[in-house]
Amino acid sequence: MTDKQYETKYWNVEHEQIDEHNEHIKEAAAAIQHQEAVAFPTETVYGLGADATTTEAVHKIFQAKGRPGDNPLIVHIANLQQVETVAEEIPDQARKLMDAFWPGSLTVILKSNGASAENVTAGLSTVGVRMPDHPVARALLTACKLPVAAPSANQSGRPSPTTAQHVLDDLTGKVYGVVDGGPTGVGVESTVVDCTAETAVILRPGGVTKEDLEAVIGPVKTASDFKNERKQPKAPGMKYTHYAPNAPFWLMEGNVNTIQNEINRLHKEGKRVGVMASEEHAEQYQHAVVKSCGSKEDLKEVAHKIYHCLRSFNNEDVDIILGETFPKEGVGAAVMNRLEKAATKVMK
Ligand code: TXA
Ligand code: MG
Repeated sequence: MTDKQYETKYWNVEHEQIDEHNEHIKEAAAAIQHQEAVAFPTETVYGLGADATTTEAVHKIFQAKGRPGDNPLIVHIANLQQVETVAEEIPDQARKLMDAFWPGSLTVILKSNGASAENVTAGLSTVGVRMPDHPVARALLTACKLPVAAPSANQSGRPSPTTAQHVLDDLTGKVYGVVDGGPTGVGVESTVVDCTAETAVILRPGGVTKEDLEAVIGPVKTASDFKNERKQPKAPGMKYTHYAPNAPFWLMEGNVNTIQNEINRLHKEGKRVGVMASEEHAEQYQHAVVKSCGSKEDLKEVAHKIYHCLRSFNNEDVDIILGETFPKEGVGAAVMNRLEKAATKVMK
């Protein structure tokens, strides 16, 4: 099949009164009802949405992103009643998490009832469901009256989009339209929690932290709890290259001195070096293009800036990007998960 080329409509609603009756929202919702794929902001990152009940509509998402077919999509809903349209049963702990964190940056994995298109769940017996907390996402989901499958609205493998411009950079001509609601807030994707086992498992760390979850349902597991087992539970998508800027990205665990030594070595070889630094250290580096992605003391700020920072090196003339590490506490776990996945090399 040839790639359909779209005009790609652009609806800017950033400063508009937003509800499901807004003209731009109605137009975007009608496109989704007509089985087109439309990008829209959520509180985490921009998503690329299509009717989750129709294989053809969902196929357009995979085509536009160049996404591998075995990576399932999250179904986005506007209200609690819609959970039952896609999930078979809602275990107690899932119900508690939904009550505590929805609308918000939490995706729960539940048993599927088979109503989602087969390419949404990639043939799994489970389905990921999320009720986003962003006025534009909520208005759009309410207006189209459908469960909407939506991965992050980036070209597969690239950093997730936190502005409409990031979406346009990756998907212009490949999608029906983009709703611009301004920059997103959280900046990293939702926490994906498998609620089908007795003890909930975090498959992907995200905006809601392990500590937040445990305050509601008690101990939860993470992938590292399964290190010694042959079969690790995971989100299928986590095995692919992700979040990568164009230049190789080396994540460096050392201090300012070790990183500066590496810059000097590369500089001598004639390489142009970028550094993704904490605010605390940004001014200390020499012979490099340095970008600050926030303070080690404010990991929410780092999460908010991380993808923009990774992408911004694509506009710089650099051969290699060196990245500082951040503490893995709170939302820092999600930040480090993304940096480790973006890295072509981790230097200890
Ligand atoms: O914040 C977010 O979650 C954003 C916004 C747009 O809502 N969406 C997002 O979608 O990050 P995506 O497709 O980029 O990531 C979905 C992740 C993947 O790692 C996928 O493998 C996992 O969720 N996932 C989806 N359904 C699953 C299932 N049934 N079982 C296990 N993992 C699942
Ligand atoms: Mg993604």
